[in-house]
Amino acid sequence: MEFFVVPDAASTGAIAAGILAAVIRSKPEAVLGLATGGSPLPVYAALAAHRLDMSGIRGFALDEYVGLPAGHPQSYAEVIRREVTERLHLDPARVSVPAGAAVDPERAAAAYDAAIAQAGGIDVQILGIGHNGHVAFNEPGSALDSRTRVEALTERTRQANARYFSSPDDVPGRCITQGLGTILEARQLLLVVSGADKADILHTALSGPVTTDCPASILQLHPHVTVVADETAAARLGSASASAETTPVTVRTGAVGV
Ligand code: GLP
Repeated sequence: MEFFVVPDAASTGAIAAGILAAVIRSKPEAVLGLATGGSPLPVYAALAAHRLDMSGIRGFALDEYVGLPAGHPQSYAEVIRREVTERLHLDPARVSVPAGAAVDPERAAAAYDAAIAQAGGIDVQILGIGHNGHVAFNEPGSALDSRTRVEALTERTRQANARYFSSPDDVPGRCITQGLGTILEARQLLLVVSGADKADILHTALSGPVTTDCPASILQLHPHVTVVADETAAARLGSASASAETTPVTVRTGAVGV
């Protein structure tokens, strides 16, 4: 596992974008796993500044709400369109989001898993982490080998995401999420995390036991994980309880391919 600890959220974007840019330059037909939420936004902004040829890039979003009408501004399809596809000049036909408005979401979820495999798998999966350790919408209790499927959201996650909706009651109760097993099949995992409110869960995920209680602990099972954290999120890493392998390395912003 490699770590970059940087001063602030903007710097996480610069470092993660540098890593992605290097992948895209060496593999112009790379398949990217795209995360929503606030953490990856600086990454997409910084990657856009690289002005790379993205015409061969394929993208798969991590998750989507079930039950929002197509075109709803807070559907992840719309967020991905605004923040990723348009910003990075990706071909919309090459960017997929689970079909949360499908008549049969279970079937759409299984088809999504198959589509990722058919595209050759994901080269780099961008990830955020929820306060309860969720990755994508895999809430605590999700099986470590789970596949893309329909899931219920916890109240905590619905509350955390209420900031994006006009009323907390408007946050859907269900989602389609890539499974933990699906995510583990990506060739590289790129976790981007910022903010003091993530310090405890980041420490638990990387230094605690691998357990379904903390879905993000699956990161410990993957052979190629890069963690880009700001100093406040990384505050508890490298403490006496962390193993030598999880001791963070401090780098200067711009040190990697930017
Ligand atoms: C959301 C998303 C996740 C995201 C997480 C953290 O519910 N489904 O993919 O990583 O919560 O979001 P944020 O980065 O805004 O804290």
